[in-house]
Parts: sequence; structure tokens; C-alpha cells
Amino acid sequence: MSAGAFAGADAVTDSRASPASLAPATSAGGQPLIRLRGITRTYGEGQAMVQALRGVDLDIRRGEFVAIMGPSGSGKSTCMNVLGCLDSPTRGEYFFDGVPVHGMSRDQRALLRRSQLGFVFQGFNLLPRTTALENVELPLLYRGEGAARRHALAREALAAVGLAGREKHTPAELSGGQQQRVAIARALVTSPAVLLADEPTGNLDSQRGREIMELLTGLNDERGITILMVTHEADMAAHAHRIVRFVDGLIASDEPNTRGAPVAAAHAASREA
Ligand SMILES: Nc1ncnc2c1ncn2[C@@H]1O[C@H](COP(=O)(O)OP(=O)(O)OP(=O)(O)O)[C@@H](O)[C@H]1O
Ligand SMILES: [Mg+2]
Repeated sequence: MSAGAFAGADAVTDSRASPASLAPATSAGGQPLIRLRGITRTYGEGQAMVQALRGVDLDIRRGEFVAIMGPSGSGKSTCMNVLGCLDSPTRGEYFFDGVPVHGMSRDQRALLRRSQLGFVFQGFNLLPRTTALENVELPLLYRGEGAARRHALAREALAAVGLAGREKHTPAELSGGQQQRVAIARALVTSPAVLLADEPTGNLDSQRGREIMELLTGLNDERGITILMVTHEADMAAHAHRIVRFVDGLIASDEPNTRGAPVAAAHAASREA
């Protein structure tokens, strides 16, 4: 794929229908879906300068479910924002499916973000006084989809997160767990290859948190969506195949998750069959 693949919206209108997104987890020796090399991000200048990322190398394969952990201020959200094209690194290289994102124009990065990346935040970030359906339709509106297709896709996404029948509810009329489901539906409605979730269960009680994790695990298993999830909670990270730990702007450890690993292996085997 070339950078030009992101230049036309047609090529990415339905990533589920594209052969690239149906490809199994990259086989040994194949290129990772995401590759970071020497990523740094510096905020401010002089005495106020903060080095949020100090040279991050990271490879993520298609279909992985990766938990990102580490102390507060270690650079987790900064890294997620770089991965999600919400922020640009100060230095370093970012390849998405082999395409150099660091060489892209602003518009190409926006197109990559809209077509391939979905976001879920701790605070849900839904528009208030706006129905669940309208919230989920928003990314499709940005993409220029017509009303009929927007409604249909948004309904389907809400049903996929267990919220059929709640389309007309505003965020204030939904519980925290339901609001996060709406946010997940909004992230999924464009059929992204990657879901980036920054502390998605951080504002939820443990039962609601577990339900959100079951939903994410299902999306990863059944749809093959690659998931990167920041969490401070070990029992949430336990759902992932791999745990990456940040300390002080660097990756301090990167290990298969002993609980997730057999699931990941079975998953990969069933896809290769
Ligand atoms: N916009 C910004 N301007 C200045 N400094 C920033 C900015 N965003 C983040 N930082 C700094 O960069 C460092 C990394 O922040 P980041 O938000 O990535 O941490 P985090 O690992 O996500 O922490 P937490 O677990 O608390 O969410 C921190 O020292 C933070 O103060
Ligand atoms: Mg953070």
C-alpha cells in the first residue's frame, strides 16, 4: 500500500470489505500493522520542557490486543495520541501498514485517522443533548455519508454494543457503562482497523468495567480489530494478549500476557485454518 491509498476516501469507505483488513494477523516476517521507531515528543521549552516520550520503538501486529500500562505521567496517552494522529511526534518514524505516517500531509493523516483508527477515552467524550444515534453518526458525517447510510450504520454499531432500543437517549439518560458503549459504537462505526482506548474503564465501577472488557475482547476475537488499550488496572490488562509498560517516556517492558497468550495462540491458529 502506498501513501496514495489514503488520498481517496473510496479506497477506505468500508475497511471491512477491503482485503487488507480481512488479512490474518501478519505472519512471521511480515510487516507489522503499526511500527514506531525512535518516537520522541517534547512539550514546552527551556526550563519548562517536558520529554513525554524519549525514543519509543513499538511494533503492533494486525489482530493483537495490547494493554499499555505504567505510572502516571509515563507517556501512555502521549503515545496513544501519536498513534491516533491526534498529535505529531517531535522526532521519529511511524509506519501504518508500511506507509510512513511521518511523511504524510495533515489531510492524509486526517484521512488515515478517519478511515483506520477509532478512539475511546476515559471520559466518553460524547456530545451532550445529542442522541446516542447522532453521536455515533458523527464520524460518518465527517466522512460525507448520506443520511440513510449514516442511520443504518449507526444503528448497526449501537446494536453491536448491546444498545439497540437506546438510539434516542441522550448521554444524560444513559448510565456510565452505556455511555462508554455509545463511545465504542462511535469508534467502530467507520470499521477501523485499530481501536485506541485510553483508560476506557477508568470512570466505571468494576462490574461495568468487566462488561466493557468483554465487549472489547469480543470485537478483537470476532472482528479481528487490533486493540491498544491503556489501563492502570491489572484485571483489565489481563484480557490482553500482550502488556507493554511505559516508564519515564520509554518502554520498560513488553511481554506476552500469560493469561491472554493461550487465547491469542488459539486465535491465530483458528485464523490460519
Ligand atoms: N499538552 C501538554 N503540554 C505539556 N506537557 C504535557 C502535555 N501533555 C502531556 N504532558 C506531559 O507529558 C508527560 C506524559 O504525559 P501523559 O499524559 O502521556 O502521561 P500518562 O502516562 O498518560 O499519565 P496518566 O496515567 O496520568 O494518564 C507528563 O509529564 C505530562 O505532564
Ligand atoms: Mg493518560
